[in-house]
Amino acid sequence: MLPSADQQEILRRRTFAIISHPDAGKTTLTEKLLLYGGAIHVAGAVKSNKIRKTATSDWMEIEKQRGISVATSVMGFDYRRGSGPGHSQQDDTVYHINILDTPGHQDFAEDTFRTLTAVDSAIVVIDSAKGVETQTRRLMEVCRMRKTPVMVFMNKMDREGKDPFDLMDEAERELGIHCTPVTWANGQGLKFESVFALNNRPSELTPKLQEELEMIDGVYDAFDREAYLRGDLAPVFFGSAYKTIGVQELLDFFVENAPSPRPVQAEERAVEPMEDKFTAFCFKIHANMDPNHRSCIAFFKICSGKFLRNTYYYHVRKDQQMRFAAPTCFMAQKKETVDEAFAGDIVGLPDTGNFKIGDTLTSGEKLHFKGLPSFSPEMFKYIENADPMRQKQLDKGVAQLMDEGVAQLFVSQLNGRKIIGTVGQLQFEVIQYRLEHEYQAKCRWQPLQMYKACWIQVTDKEGEIELDTFKKRKAQYMATDKEGRDVFMADSAYVLNMAQQDYKHITFHFTSEF
Ligand code: G4P
Repeated sequence: MLPSADQQEILRRRTFAIISHPDAGKTTLTEKLLLYGGAIHVAGAVKSNKIRKTATSDWMEIEKQRGISVATSVMGFDYRRGSGPGHSQQDDTVYHINILDTPGHQDFAEDTFRTLTAVDSAIVVIDSAKGVETQTRRLMEVCRMRKTPVMVFMNKMDREGKDPFDLMDEAERELGIHCTPVTWANGQGLKFESVFALNNRPSELTPKLQEELEMIDGVYDAFDREAYLRGDLAPVFFGSAYKTIGVQELLDFFVENAPSPRPVQAEERAVEPMEDKFTAFCFKIHANMDPNHRSCIAFFKICSGKFLRNTYYYHVRKDQQMRFAAPTCFMAQKKETVDEAFAGDIVGLPDTGNFKIGDTLTSGEKLHFKGLPSFSPEMFKYIENADPMRQKQLDKGVAQLMDEGVAQLFVSQLNGRKIIGTVGQLQFEVIQYRLEHEYQAKCRWQPLQMYKACWIQVTDKEGEIELDTFKKRKAQYMATDKEGRDVFMADSAYVLNMAQQDYKHITFHFTSEF
């Protein structure tokens, strides 16, 4: 076990992700949280609207251009309860909050899903005018699967929107959660101009408000922290990120009740955060985060113990000791070199090609963390060099972006042409843009009619014989993935069906992790 001062460090950590549909208000809410934490200093709706344009959490140029977050970034800040503007309630704990930003666009679902493996809880933001949308539902499925505790922020209540009871009904139905409202609106003047905590109701109640509160008491279970931590109960908050209504109530409740770092299940055993042995896994790799330094950063979530700068750790996959002179943590928009970090924190390690997503670092133990999902690509295109003078740069760019997990690369065994597989159109645009801006390389896309990439596997002798025939017969459809594995590129559902029927000893997998 760690010494108690280190345990206190871990107990005060809150590492979470905000998940939502694009435009629900994730960026606006993130900024307001940073504002309360004193991590940024621009107050007021108008100005914050301005910084939104170069959003603090959006590192990459393309995100600014398109106004969407395409890469997950990390923001850390310290916060003491009630220390936000205009409030006096005090609590001596200084919480350390790590927000993992997630790309909201559905094309980047894979990146978002991976981020969810690195958080201890989540806040779901719902646009109260639009209700629950598909993207949010899919993300919530991952949270349910992982039993991630969630809180819900019903945003944009300053606008004409759905009735709050209807919203909670919808959330329960669509997201498979049990709601318990924690704040409610005073209902005076502007719709939801102000919000109060339900355990601290105003003494003067309008008849309508009285009726609503009675209904809440009658219908919803009271907040029960244990049920929330099990993922069985979701506290719900109403407010407006833009007008900063209900945000402090959310933040105060969050730091007090959200879990500190939770145990993480490795393949070998469960890892407890308070163990004195250090363990961490890589959930993201980001190339060229800083245009002035052409480096990659591997993001590691610390699962247990304490990380120290310039100390040797064991890189399990490479079976090699490594130490890091310039590890970074992320304080709001700044990257800072850190001497130590604790379970719950995310450290960025400068990487020159040593890391892959899913890699584990430990104090010496051979551990493997599981649960990093990989996706079945749905769209395929040939990538071609559009600038013959820059072939090397193109190759390097493609290789690095694939290591980041932006998309998947296949090389045709027939003619050596490179095929990129993605889950959506936007990924092609991002790749093209980043190749141009980060590697000064130009690419062209050629259409390719393709249904699914299938990783093929055999387990017995008969299978091996079958595989031989299969590869000869299907030579023109065979490709190789980044790891050198055989992939069958089925061009239609029919072809795949036939192959599955004809080759009973071969198993066809649709993700690279099987
Ligand atoms: P996202 O990160 O989830 O994609 O959403 P983001 O915060 O960028 O917000 C999307 C839009 O919704 C923005 O407007 C933002 O100002 C607005 N918004 C966020 N929270 C609230 C709220 O509580 N009330 C109201 N009325 N609007 C809110 P935009 O038109 O896209 O940009 P801008 O004109 O504000 O710059």
